Amino acid sequence: MSLAVVTGGSRGIGRATAFALAARGFSLALPARPSAARTETEEELRRRGVKHRFFDCDLTEGAELTRTAELILAECGAPDVLVNNAGIIERASVAECTDASWERQLALNLTAPFRLTRSFLPAMLERRRGRILHVASISAVLGTARQAAYHASKWGLLGFMKCLAEELSDTGLMTCAILPGSVETDMLAGSGFPARMTPDEVARTLCFYATEAPLAHNGAIVEMFGT
Ligand SMILES: NC(=O)c1ccc[n+]([C@@H]2O[C@H](COP(=O)([O-])OP(=O)(O)OC[C@H]3O[C@@H](n4cnc5c(N)ncnc54)[C@H](OP(=O)(O)O)[C@@H]3O)[C@@H](O)[C@H]2O)c1
Repeated sequence: MSLAVVTGGSRGIGRATAFALAARGFSLALPARPSAARTETEEELRRRGVKHRFFDCDLTEGAELTRTAELILAECGAPDVLVNNAGIIERASVAECTDASWERQLALNLTAPFRLTRSFLPAMLERRRGRILHVASISAVLGTARQAAYHASKWGLLGFMKCLAEELSDTGLMTCAILPGSVETDMLAGSGFPARMTPDEVARTLCFYATEAPLAHNGAIVEMFGT
């Protein structure tokens, strides 16, 4: 059975992706913080008979993240698919953005994907197979007032993905980034932006790159502007 590691699996796009991958036969390792949403997702996964395990992890804590990745490798093996999805946005003008807010967004949206990728990469390279998918954002290719930290993290994630793609050439692995526009999730609530797509539509796209897409898509930037 193939293994997918999905971050942010408790709700939103990550939850939809976990269910979509499970429907295609993946077992799931889900690093996530304990929460009511996570408990509800866990109950639904159990009800559907999905082989899964949540691992307690705040992805902004470097040592905790590394320990969690080691635990997943020891107990579940190397992932066939890693989906770096967990993310946050905190809106403020550049003049008002605090160091702490800047660092929180960079830590989760950019540093955590780097650390998780670094943790799993040797085992994936050894098996000469695997796909590393990043949920960036359409914010990675444009600018928006009061979102500088978020955009910087997502533009950075694309830079990271592009360099990783070069390193993965001819290894049997691939990486790519999905760039959704406005998705109907908690993150969008209160933003003033209307939803242009559902979490399921993003999940279906991620599933395609997790399974059927040729490795020749290595390095792809998949823009989803919505309808
Ligand atoms: N919604 C949109 O319009 C949109 C558009 C483009 C891109 N995206 C991107 O899509 C991804 C998923 O977003 P979403 O819309 O599904 O957001 P969401 O519904 O707010 O879910 C965010 C997920 O990230 C997790 N998370 C937050 N902080 C964490 C931490 N410190 N450690 C571990 N997990 C943490 C949350 O877990 P908790 O329950 O513990 O908080 C939750 O599972 C993000 O990378 C986001 O930037 C979203």
